[in-house]
Amino acid sequence: MKSFRSFYSLVLLGLMLSFSAFSQNNPVENTKETAKISKAIPDDVNAVLANSCFQCHSNDGSGMARAKMNLSEWDSYDADKKATKAGAMCNEIIKDMMPPKRFLSSNPSAALSGEQKELICKWSESLAANK
Ligand code: HEC
Repeated sequence: MKSFRSFYSLVLLGLMLSFSAFSQNNPVENTKETAKISKAIPDDVNAVLANSCFQCHSNDGSGMARAKMNLSEWDSYDADKKATKAGAMCNEIIKDMMPPKRFLSSNPSAALSGEQKELICKWSESLAANK
């Protein structure tokens, strides 16, 4: 009976912990999912970046992420820099380095499907070809 009780309270504790972790890291809000990053970015690519990357890589995001790549500043990047950054995005997502694993555990909907990765990589190739 005693062991049953402690098992029960462990489960309860686990539930409380996961709930508080969940509520601290609010999942991406609707407004951000549909944020238009730049007219220069095609809608389908925009949708992926807005949903999975914009939370950190934007003016409202984290300092470190923003310093490396700020999607809010995309229009100010020249063609060379756009191609380089898009190439780096492809690189990071196919290696599953981005979005960071810790972020994904609280924002599972930010995970990229194989098709979405392919979309970003194709887009990066088109930028590299046109710079
Ligand atoms: C939870 C915040 C967060 C999210 C979400 C996130 N990133 Fe990052 N990203 C960072 C941080 C912090 C860095 C800088 C440290 C590092 O390189 O690991 C970074 C670095 C990068 C870099 C390196 C830039 C450079 O030029 O060296 C690229 C590219 C990148 N992220 C792409 C992405 C893409 C694409 C997504 C979405 C699919 C994404 N990130 C989502 C936090 C994030």
